[in-house]
Amino acid sequence: MSNPYEIAFKRSIEDPDGFWAEAAQNCHWYKKWDKVLDDSNKPFYRWFTGGEINTCYNALDFHIEQGRGEQAALIYDSPVTDTIQTFTYTELRDLVARFAGVLKGLGVEKGDRVLIYMPMIPQAVIAMLACARIGAVHSVVFGGFAANELATRINDAKPRVIASASCGIEVKKVIAYKPLLDEAIEMSDAGARPEKCVIFQRPMTEATMVEGRDVDWEAAMAEAQPADCVPVKATDPLYILYTSGTTGQPKGVVRDNGGHVVALKWTMKAIYNVDPGDVYWAASDVGWVVGHSYIVYGPLFQGCTTILFEGKPVGTPDAGVFWRVISQHKVNCLFTAPTAFRAIKREDPNGDLIKDYDLSCFRALFLAGERLDPDTLKWAQSKLGVPVIDHWWQTETGWAICANCLGLHQFPIKEGSPTKPVPGWNLFVVDPDSNPVKAGEIGALVVKLPLPPGSLPTLWNNDERFVESYLREFPGYYKTADAGFIDEDGYVFVMARTDDIINVAGHRLSTGAMEEVLADHPDVAECAVLGVEDKLKGQVPVGFLVLNAGVTRSHDEIIAEVIQMVRSRIGPVASFKTATVVKRLPKTRSGKILRGTIQKIADNKEYKVPATIDDPATLGEMQEALEKIGYAKARK
Ligand code: COA
Ligand code: AMP
Repeated sequence: MSNPYEIAFKRSIEDPDGFWAEAAQNCHWYKKWDKVLDDSNKPFYRWFTGGEINTCYNALDFHIEQGRGEQAALIYDSPVTDTIQTFTYTELRDLVARFAGVLKGLGVEKGDRVLIYMPMIPQAVIAMLACARIGAVHSVVFGGFAANELATRINDAKPRVIASASCGIEVKKVIAYKPLLDEAIEMSDAGARPEKCVIFQRPMTEATMVEGRDVDWEAAMAEAQPADCVPVKATDPLYILYTSGTTGQPKGVVRDNGGHVVALKWTMKAIYNVDPGDVYWAASDVGWVVGHSYIVYGPLFQGCTTILFEGKPVGTPDAGVFWRVISQHKVNCLFTAPTAFRAIKREDPNGDLIKDYDLSCFRALFLAGERLDPDTLKWAQSKLGVPVIDHWWQTETGWAICANCLGLHQFPIKEGSPTKPVPGWNLFVVDPDSNPVKAGEIGALVVKLPLPPGSLPTLWNNDERFVESYLREFPGYYKTADAGFIDEDGYVFVMARTDDIINVAGHRLSTGAMEEVLADHPDVAECAVLGVEDKLKGQVPVGFLVLNAGVTRSHDEIIAEVIQMVRSRIGPVASFKTATVVKRLPKTRSGKILRGTIQKIADNKEYKVPATIDDPATLGEMQEALEKIGYAKARK
């Protein structure tokens, strides 16, 4: 007998039209689609072509019509400013409509881009939904990125307007956002700069306004006329979210409107098992995909109450804050990254602070963003007594590729596995020639095309890079760039990235981008950046520098300079705090840096001396260099 998961999975693969058309019936459409899956322009598959929809309508107005106007839509909980503010569906809709009016007043039209560079405040959510309301395309940039990264995104998205705030708050530090924004606009191409910036002034820091360009959020809201939802094509873009690629140039992941509403609303019940009226909390940031999908859109599509938390798992004020938020707001389901739990566990290993709160409302914990290590899994299971679900996904996919779908069927958990492919994801493990490998064998994790609705249709203005990055290597499949295996029971294990992406505290970063920065230092001849294991953050980047011949300056000074360069060009979020000078890097005879081997040495793992190595002595030198900076415990 098949269980509901197996039935749903089979149907999603054999009859995707029927499966997704049924899910789409739970959403509001102005005009029904002509085709569910449109494969007329392979490999660019589109969903619900001919359909007309509005994302903001589905997130807000729809629920007001269903009688949820007085229900809390958003709870802003900010221990760093000692604020708790609740917005009902009606209140949030009114604010969003008004900000949509502000944008319209500034000349923003359907298809125009609006860049949002904001901390975790309600205005960030309002700005996103306001864009959706008028068919503008938002692009949220995470606050931890430096001006240079912001400028790269401005150049690519060419926003008509930027919405920002005077500052963000990082535990006790106030980070002024406006000077970073001004610098980024200054650095960006003249033709890409916004006409206007709307700035939300926070009481902790007053931003200096640029005359003629900058508009005060509150003043603009006071004068604006509310704007109504406009129908857009299901295939029109809702947002662009930039994510790390293998170079300093980030990839602009595009999300469409129709497929996104349908898929995310479906996941709320199927994966997370939450119903309208439930309270859902994704402790992430609106700058990441988790924030887009599960702070803002998914919970609101489902008529849930969503929590916007401006704080950290520890230090705001202590390691009990997650339990305080869960009990105070009656959270049913929490989603965060394993690193948050490692941070809590480090401060409160026995989970004593949990006992101070009534968590009877709490039903499930979902973790993603990086590998869930068994210690963290077991700790969370034993301390919380609810299902702890690892699920695997990417910015590109927009929702989980693999999960234990609590709303369909709960499978027993296997440590280290995000369980099974979610309906819609036809996952395979293949060898370099695209042939599926046997159960248990490691290979490339790839998804047979078409990808389900809600996943990226392309990269912003760059179909070529989309094909090159994801579709070229394994014809007929989407390359996840993760390696792993599927065991005999169909459980998936995600082992490692196959490119230079690393995950630092659940944040996706490119070591290649960091190498580009280091290579710019005048004393650096050659360099490598690797992600090495870290107890708290999962991975942290470590830099290896080979200096130009004749450089006699202090190594410490050069190291401090490169660390500062990464911080100011990529941002503090890179957590690039360790580098060391080496005489040379271990390489193959053809000159390729042996990154995998260096990484194994750093992580103190077994390694074989590669047959192609140019000079085996370089490995010993590497061992010594790593020991000096606290990695690679001495081997016998
Ligand atoms: N704006 C400005 N600066 C930011 C920022 C933001 N939005 N977010 C992070 N930073 C800064 C931090 O202040 C820190 O700066 P520092 O070097 O001056 O200390 C740096 O970027 C690194 O931040 P982070 O990696 O978050 O480290 P942390 O030590 O501050 O916190 C954790 C570590 C584990 C507590 C935190 O990363 C966390 O809660 N992560 C889990 C939730 C999550 O965000 N997941 C994302 C995907 S689901
Ligand atoms: P991001 O685009 O920031 O969501 O990062 C996506 C990458 O994070 C994936 O390609 C994986 O390498 C990693 N990742 C996300 N979730 C998991 C998970 N549950 N297990 C292992 N790796 C994960």
